[in-house]
Amino acid sequence: MTKHIGILTAGGDSPGLNAAIRGVGKAAQGNYDMRIIGFRDGFRGLMENRTISLEGGVLSGILTVGGTILGTSRDKPNKMKVGGKTMDMTDSIVENYEANHLDALVCLGGGGTQKNALLLKQKGLNIITMPKTIDNDVAMTDTTFGFDTALGIATDAIDRLHSTAHSHHRIIVVEIMGHRAGWLALGSGIAGGADVILLPEIPYQLEAVADAITHRVKNGKNFSIVAVAEGAMSTDEASVVRGLEQRIADAEAAEDKKARKQAKQELRQLEANRSDHTLQLAHQLEQLTGLESRPSILGHLQRGGTPSAADRLLATRLGTACASLINDGVSGVMVAARGESAVPVLLEDVAGKKKLVPADHPWIESARLVGVSFGD
Ligand code: F6P
Repeated sequence: MTKHIGILTAGGDSPGLNAAIRGVGKAAQGNYDMRIIGFRDGFRGLMENRTISLEGGVLSGILTVGGTILGTSRDKPNKMKVGGKTMDMTDSIVENYEANHLDALVCLGGGGTQKNALLLKQKGLNIITMPKTIDNDVAMTDTTFGFDTALGIATDAIDRLHSTAHSHHRIIVVEIMGHRAGWLALGSGIAGGADVILLPEIPYQLEAVADAITHRVKNGKNFSIVAVAEGAMSTDEASVVRGLEQRIADAEAAEDKKARKQAKQELRQLEANRSDHTLQLAHQLEQLTGLESRPSILGHLQRGGTPSAADRLLATRLGTACASLINDGVSGVMVAARGESAVPVLLEDVAGKKKLVPADHPWIESARLVGVSFGD
C-alpha cells in the first residue's frame, strides 16, 4: 500500500535543509512508491494545514539552494501564539496529520524540534526527525547539517579580519553564533587562526584575555583576533547563570511553578542584558591593552547561502536513510550521523539534551598546543 508522508522544517533555517528535503522526497517517491507533501513554516503551517506538493519536479534544482523551500518558524505545538494568546495547538496538529492520511511526519530541526517531535510522538503520531543546525549542539549525532557551511563562512570571515587587524595594529573581536554551544567559534577559531577563543563552556577572565594579547605585543605581534562565541561568559557571569539554573532545577524538583517562572524570567533578563556583550568586550580590551579594538558581529550571514559539499552530502545521506526507515515502518526516532552510517536514535534519548564542547575535547587540546588562549 502506498505510504503518505509529510515533511516540515522548524527552528532557525540552516544550509542543507533543501538537500535533506530532496533526499527524503526523491528516495521516497523513486524507490518506495510513497506520496509526499510539505507543510509550510514549521509546526505553524501544520497547525494551519498549509501544504505544498513536493511532486512533479518540485524537488529538482534545490540541492544547492540555501534556506528552506518550505519556510520555517520557531513555533511550538503546545505553546503557539494564536490571536494574541499562547495556546496548546497539539490537537489541531493531530487532526491535520490525520486529515492528510499521513503514515509518517518528517521534522527537520535542531534541539527544540526534537522536543516538539517527542511531544507529537507521545500523542501517537509516527514522527521521524533529522538533526539540522549551524550550532552542532544536537545530542546523539556526530554532527548536524548546516554546521560545516557555517564553519566555512566564519573561517573565511576570520581570514579576512586578519589583514585589516594586521594593517591597523588592532584587536578585532569577532562574534560567532552557536547559541549556548561553542562548536562554531571553536572550529572556526582554530581553522582561522584566532589568537583567543572564548566559549560558553570555558568561562573566561578578562584579565587573562588582556594578558594573552599583551604577551603577543611583547613578541612583536601588535594585532590580535579574538573569536568569541555569542554565548561566551566571564567567570562572574557564569556563576550567576549557574545559580539561576540551579534555582530552576530546584523549583522543578519541588514542583514550585512560581519559583521556576521567577528564576526563568531572571535568566531571560540576564541574557537580554548581555546582547551587547561583544561590544563591551572590545571596549574593555581596548582599555586594558591600550590597543585600538573593533567588534565584528557575523550574525545571520553564517546561516545564509549555498550549503557546502559536506553539508549536501550529509543531508542527502540522512534524508535517504530517513525514507528507507519509513519504508521499514520505523518511527519515533531521529536519523543520526554515526561515522559513515545513518542510525536511528530514540527521540527520548535526544530531546532535552544539548551537546556542548567537553573541556577535554581534542580540538581544545590542539588549540592550546598552537598557543590559543581560552582566557581561563
Ligand atoms: O540555532 C541557530 C541560531 O543561528 C543560533 O546560533 C542563534 O543563537 C539563533 O539561531 C538566532 O536565532 P534567530 O534567527 O531567531 O535570531
